[in-house]
Amino acid sequence: MAGTRANPLEEGLGIRRKPDPCALVIFGASGDLTQRKLFPALYALAYRRLLPERFAVVGVARTEQSTSEFEALMKAAVKSYARDPFVQGVWDRLSGGLRYVPADFADENAEDELDRVVGELEASRGLGGNRVYYLAIPPQAFETSVQEIGERQDHDGWTRVIVEKPFGHDASSAQRLSDVLHRWFREEQIFRIDHYLGKETVQNMLALRFANGIFEPVWNRQFIDHVQITVAESIGIEGRAAFYESAGAIRDVFQNHLLQLLALTAMEPPIDFTADAVRTEKVKALRSLHTPGPKSVVRGQYGPGWVEAQEVRGYREEDGVANGSLTETFIAAKLYVDNWRWADTPFYVRAGKRLARRETTIAIQFQRAPHPPFEAIAGDGLRPNVLLIHVQPDEGVSLAIGAKVPGAGMTIRTVHMDFLYGGAFREGLPEAYERLILDAMLGDATLFTREDEVDEQWKLVDAIVGPWQRDRPTFPSYAAGTWGPRAADELLHRDGRSWRRH
Ligand code: BG6
Repeated sequence: MAGTRANPLEEGLGIRRKPDPCALVIFGASGDLTQRKLFPALYALAYRRLLPERFAVVGVARTEQSTSEFEALMKAAVKSYARDPFVQGVWDRLSGGLRYVPADFADENAEDELDRVVGELEASRGLGGNRVYYLAIPPQAFETSVQEIGERQDHDGWTRVIVEKPFGHDASSAQRLSDVLHRWFREEQIFRIDHYLGKETVQNMLALRFANGIFEPVWNRQFIDHVQITVAESIGIEGRAAFYESAGAIRDVFQNHLLQLLALTAMEPPIDFTADAVRTEKVKALRSLHTPGPKSVVRGQYGPGWVEAQEVRGYREEDGVANGSLTETFIAAKLYVDNWRWADTPFYVRAGKRLARRETTIAIQFQRAPHPPFEAIAGDGLRPNVLLIHVQPDEGVSLAIGAKVPGAGMTIRTVHMDFLYGGAFREGLPEAYERLILDAMLGDATLFTREDEVDEQWKLVDAIVGPWQRDRPTFPSYAAGTWGPRAADELLHRDGRSWRRH
């Protein structure tokens, strides 16, 4: 348009390779994930014409319902949860290839009907036999489903399998799942989801570190005092007691999302951005993690309290939770990455439910200026520089620097240089699942966790929870709506540090 200059930063947005024609088969399609995340993501992709021209989706679950009933549900889900306005034409394009097959995945015969439906779609829509299976199913159904899919690879085209978390419960169960998968599939066909890797801000960590010359030279123990990673949620367990009781914060969030954030912060530069190069560097960082002693780990459980002006129940009062439950809803730890880059630099990490606010951040705190001549006159004390990555919400990056307060004298105050996604790019941020579904269709596994990564993550968790069997923590240990138990603050105070101010 005359007079308006295009935003140069928008260049490249939305320009991606289109995947091959394919069918996406979702096992466990009647679950919450399909409604809240998968269909809204598929709709967003359809809206931007990023899906292949020839495409089909098949929902599979135990619930008895027809394709039109399923379609109505998914349409309602898209209307409630999608980030784009509802456009009938877009929905028609997506739903034209939508089918539902009621089936018990543990029942071997159920697959025949699924085969028939997928085969028919492939023939009528010209899908070339390419299939992405999305497994969002309970662990007990896993083996049979994988076997059924694996045995039926005699069709044309490629087969890929996306596996939702949780991927196992500990190192040995995760290994068993990988073994089952490897009976039928090569590692390149397996896409283990950690949806944090699909978040734009998480990927931006790689851009920030490796596309800018100024950060990498100071990204080490000589310049960085410590790192803080926070994955705070204000929500509780949202009716997922059965799962959460056996998982707790350590298996639900620490093992995957939190450790992935740590790995991206600590990893060495990869030689290129291929899936294997990136993941190999992450594995090395994870492998360098020193097992923290019991004094370096704090777990907690929320009691009743107030969150965002609403009175909420304690964890033990949630439906489906045992009265005396010892499941942790909060974990904090001091971790060390034992290598040349990071030796003696603590990574303080914490994750919890029913905390004061939803906030995921990575804070890189630099060393103090060696000889601050202004100290005596600094306004709020000359604070060290902090590079703060706001993973969510208010996505962006900010750098805390000391600046002179205008006027006479030399008073220094901390100010922030901010980059906010909302301001720099006009396009709204895609949801993690959009990127991940698309990448799996493209066969790009960079943002999925490889077998050895998952293994390292579980080994650390196993080592931490080992001693937990022997003692009984006093729970609840923090009121809902606070920043966790006092012991988490003490963990840092002992080192003369404190959690970032909120
Ligand atoms: C999931 C956990 O993996 O991540 C949930 O199982 C958690 O307990 C969720 O609430 C957080 O995801 P997000 O994208 O809302 O930060």
